[in-house]
Amino acid sequence: MEKLYALFGCPVHHSLSPLMHNDAFRHMNIAAHYHAFHVEPEYLKDAVAGVRALGIAGLNVTIPHKTAVMPLLDDIDAEARRIGAVNTIVNENGRLIGYNTDGPGYVRALEEETNVEIKDKRILLIGAGGAARGIYFSLIDRGAKQIDICNRTVPKAKQLIEEGDAAVSSAAYSLNEAEQRLGEYDIVINTTSVGMYPNMEEMPLSLANLKEGTIVSDIIYNPLETKWLKEARERNAIVQNGVGMFIYQGALAFEKWTGIFPDVERMKKIVMEQLR
Ligand code: ATR
Repeated sequence: MEKLYALFGCPVHHSLSPLMHNDAFRHMNIAAHYHAFHVEPEYLKDAVAGVRALGIAGLNVTIPHKTAVMPLLDDIDAEARRIGAVNTIVNENGRLIGYNTDGPGYVRALEEETNVEIKDKRILLIGAGGAARGIYFSLIDRGAKQIDICNRTVPKAKQLIEEGDAAVSSAAYSLNEAEQRLGEYDIVINTTSVGMYPNMEEMPLSLANLKEGTIVSDIIYNPLETKWLKEARERNAIVQNGVGMFIYQGALAFEKWTGIFPDVERMKKIVMEQLR
């Protein structure tokens, strides 16, 4: 019998996840279908009960449900618990298990697309919200030497660092302080939504002090190249846009559901055709 996988979010109509997963199912001859459901927050509980009732095999959850879904599950893996958010759920014979593939997906994309080895690198994260949390913990797990966090609201950066690993050197900075120190880092990552469509003139911080050859990464993929990333490229940085994170979080979710890691190059091609 064909299995059903689903995305719960609000809104979901622009999501490229159905396209990406359905192509992978077809291509790999897996009898399954992925459907996006618009679920209003007040209906999340009923929707999760529906997953149990209908035997939906697996889920992605996105904004605004990533934290709210947690108490509705039977178990949550340690990484997702640490992050405080779930984006992937596996229905294991009626038990709903929550995972988070956003941070691991980001890090895998960073490694594979830029060929960087994260171990012993000095990294600056811009932002301290939900996306930053997953990325921060995944970078710690990969052995980064130093991970500083700058944020408009500095106490939020401090709070995140307190939850991190004391063995990794981490400091919290204001955006202005980080701009002054930009030359000290091997990798600079924007995890905020600053520069995303439709506010495409905005930049998370000035790149005036950027060193040539620094890896500059933006998790935004709409537009494909933010104004900030374009400037980084013009300053001879190695740049990475947010498509990779989107693809790899999906690929890792697909692997959790099916046990098979899909063809990411094919996924990327399918998604890029829609974004260009
Ligand atoms: P997400 O889950 O996408 O990370 P979030 O948890 O709301 O979303 O976090 C958004 C991040 O972008 C935060 O770091 C936020 O800074 P604050 O903690 O100061 O709110 C940052 N951000 C959003 N809009 C911003 C802006 N206009 N200027 C600077 N930072 C901004």
